[in-house]
Amino acid sequence: MQAFDHRKYRPAPPVAMHSRQWPSRTITRAPRWASVDLRDGNQALLEPMNVGQKKRLWALLVKLGFKEIEVGFPSASQPDYDFVRWLIEDKQIPDDVTVQVLVQAREDLITRTFDALRGAKRANVHVYNSTSTVQRERVFGLDRAGIIAIAKNGAELVQREAAKRPDTEWVFQYSPESFSNTEMDFAVEVCEAVMDVWQPSAAKPCIINLPSTVESATPNVFADQIEYFCTHISRRDAVIVSVHTHNDRGCAVAAAELAVLAGADRVEGTLLGNGERTGNMDITTMAMNLYSQGVEPGLDLSNPDEIIQVCVACTGIALHPRHPWFGELVYTAFSGSHQDAIRKCLHQQQPDEPWQVAYLPIDPKDLGRDYQAVIRVNSQSGKGGVAFVLERDYGLVLPRWMQVELAQVVQKASEQRSGEIDGASIHALFLQHFVTEHQAMAMTDYRLDRKGSHDSIAATISDQGKSQALHGEGEGALSAFVDGLMRYSGRKINVVDYSEHAIGAGTDAEAAAYVQLNIDGQRFSGAAFDHDTVSASLKAVLSALNKAVAVNPVTKAA
Ligand code: KIV
Ligand code: ZN
Repeated sequence: MQAFDHRKYRPAPPVAMHSRQWPSRTITRAPRWASVDLRDGNQALLEPMNVGQKKRLWALLVKLGFKEIEVGFPSASQPDYDFVRWLIEDKQIPDDVTVQVLVQAREDLITRTFDALRGAKRANVHVYNSTSTVQRERVFGLDRAGIIAIAKNGAELVQREAAKRPDTEWVFQYSPESFSNTEMDFAVEVCEAVMDVWQPSAAKPCIINLPSTVESATPNVFADQIEYFCTHISRRDAVIVSVHTHNDRGCAVAAAELAVLAGADRVEGTLLGNGERTGNMDITTMAMNLYSQGVEPGLDLSNPDEIIQVCVACTGIALHPRHPWFGELVYTAFSGSHQDAIRKCLHQQQPDEPWQVAYLPIDPKDLGRDYQAVIRVNSQSGKGGVAFVLERDYGLVLPRWMQVELAQVVQKASEQRSGEIDGASIHALFLQHFVTEHQAMAMTDYRLDRKGSHDSIAATISDQGKSQALHGEGEGALSAFVDGLMRYSGRKINVVDYSEHAIGAGTDAEAAAYVQLNIDGQRFSGAAFDHDTVSASLKAVLSALNKAVAVNPVTKAA
């Protein structure tokens, strides 16, 4: 075999299912969430959290609304033990929150775990042992009966220690670690053995947590495993079926979602997916997936910036800018066609109708992100993005033909900078290209006389610093001025397009005017601003004419 040779690996065995139900179901409500940030997440860190960091993360988890939180592995780590003691002694656990601690199915560890939990009002003791074929055969050297004996023994010890402390309301949880790599009939058999000890009931259920400790199959296989388990376990109503997926194949969220379709009641995971290897199931992503489908997620994720800040401070792991839902760039469009579509949809979106904006699966405002970041411009962006930014930041509503021309200017500039170009730079390019680049002629003064629909204009312009008088006639101020300019310059000028709008409101409002002229067979565009609309339009004409003069300075003065 060569080094990179797929024949080294075997496919995950499928589950023999005859009438699977999960593919035709949809998720209509959120599962019970259990955070394992302070245990599984913490165990995966290069530098485990110190007590201060754990306290900070705990406070965040409670604030987000988690009701079940695995707080550590107190029998294996002194900081975890101390943290559990602090939670209890400092009365940090709200009445509706259950703390959970992990322990291996070993007597000394179980006793120390109960010791850590003394004084707790309610607590979940989560006991586990490995059940997969490879762990049985290659790690423990035990047969199925040997593995069942470990699980049963763990369950008995947990029950015995709990009975000694009746003041605490105990919840029992068992995980057949590496469940997804275990033969299904055996996984059910082990869990039955544990339940035989605990004797759960519908009134007092136990939690059976089914992990894909190492994700090694497609999510549909995991869903089959969960449906198999749910339909083969004897006391289904006495069991909360929980799943705990890892992200080795990048499908932890998908696997958990399909597992919920397959019957899981509860989902364990971490904020932003921190955890062993490629991470635990990312609860923030799964909850946001539900939210975006109109399902109440049961967690308050409205302030992702706080979640990111606390997680980064506690784990030392930065968030990818394209992390689902929360990444810095996920509500940003650089592509021109995307920007165009977003701009159109945002204009039409009504506050009281369901969200219908192309390329934005949710309203970024729900997460405290504003539309500022939605459209950013680089060399991939087209006219839509440029127009959006000018309208959003400067109130300028450019006509289409001007957007097209400006987009080329902006694209060139951003290629030269090889990067993003911000709103201020786009505005500066706009002013330079359409208003200020060429200023041979400028308006000094004008007087307009109107008789019916006929206007005559007497204007004074400065041309290369010299004051010049011109006179023109036409229907409306614009055509009268253009007539005057034709007489003055000897050029043939037609108005191809013209538009204007107010910027702002009230007495401070300014007029923006955009004009496209055909001058001696060539098109030139100009823009201008003034408190007086007519003045803005005449200045825009001069801006366009100045461009023509710069290209072809020869005048045929009359
Ligand atoms: O991934 C896993 O299997 C675990 C168990 C201890 C639940 O973290
Ligand atoms: Zn895990």
